[in-house]
Amino acid sequence: MYNIFCLAIRMFYFFCCLYLLFKEFKQNLLACTYYLRLILIFAPKFYHQTKNIKMKVTVVGAGAVGATVADNIARKELCHELVLLDIKEGLAEGKAMDMMQMSSVLGFDTKITGSTNDYSKTAGSDVVVITSGIPRKPGMSREDLIGTNAGIVKGVAENILQHSPDAIFVIISNPMDTMTYLTLKATGLPKNRVIGMGGALDSSRFKFYLSKALNCSQNDLNAVVIGGHGDTTMIPLTRLATLNSNPVSNLLDAETLKKVAADTMVGGATLTGLIGTSAWYAPGSSALSVVESILRDEKKVITSCVLLEGEYGQSDICLGVPVVIGKNGWEKIIDYKLNEEEQASFNKSAEAVRGMNEVLNTLAV
Ligand code: 2OP
Repeated sequence: MYNIFCLAIRMFYFFCCLYLLFKEFKQNLLACTYYLRLILIFAPKFYHQTKNIKMKVTVVGAGAVGATVADNIARKELCHELVLLDIKEGLAEGKAMDMMQMSSVLGFDTKITGSTNDYSKTAGSDVVVITSGIPRKPGMSREDLIGTNAGIVKGVAENILQHSPDAIFVIISNPMDTMTYLTLKATGLPKNRVIGMGGALDSSRFKFYLSKALNCSQNDLNAVVIGGHGDTTMIPLTRLATLNSNPVSNLLDAETLKKVAADTMVGGATLTGLIGTSAWYAPGSSALSVVESILRDEKKVITSCVLLEGEYGQSDICLGVPVVIGKNGWEKIIDYKLNEEEQASFNKSAEAVRGMNEVLNTLAV
């Protein structure tokens, strides 16, 4: 309702400007450029607002990560309708209803519904976030989950595709790099419509650890992690990290930077050790940044797991690289011109992930 009301006000203001524009046109060219500028400001807002009014997002998996993603998307009104789906009886319906009961308190109008394994409810989704499968426990690696999660993710992807053939898939389930590759192969979708969310999360953890070492705001840091989303396969790019354009290597000694990179790589495992299960706040928010860049066509560069066909010296593998994300999914891979050492690490990371991808052939998925 609120959305429609805003739209009406904007339309009224828009047509007033249009009328004044033509009225002013004869008298004062300067004034009409002012109204023209207003029109140019408002026109994209109309487009996005009307567009987002119609967008639909499905989140599969109503566990901690999935529910956090859904909660984040709903609060920001990134779409008109959000469906939360889980296999556990009542879980998605209950969490969706609980979120809807925040609507009047937080002032959002996103329509959230839950479903127990009824994929018809997800029909026509523009973006689908797959978080289904089991999370890791203390002492486990993400790769340990492949035997359980591969079959689940494949089935989910196929069910979703039946009802939402035009959807963009965002994969979170672990081992994420291999689950992204599996989804791409199982669905046969164009490569740009399958995005693995891992680098966004690892980069946020990289900034967290850098900010602790530098005693600075995380928001003044520019730092990315590429490669696999694994405790031993991710590559924090310390050489390229900056604090307000000042390379962090000017501010921290090599030993400290090495420690920051090491802490980043096991950032997920550290939390699992503390909490007893996989984290969900940072993963849920990192997934939000990917979904938001798609739905708002923001063209943000977000390190994500995508199919490589020669880029960074690798092919037929899904791995974390900087990509432009917009309304078509991932739209362009950015070449950060790795140095020899970084390229060697990237190749080693790819080798490990390729080994996991080969495990898929031994599973009856
Ligand atoms: C993490 O690193 C769940 O893989 C995710 O927390």
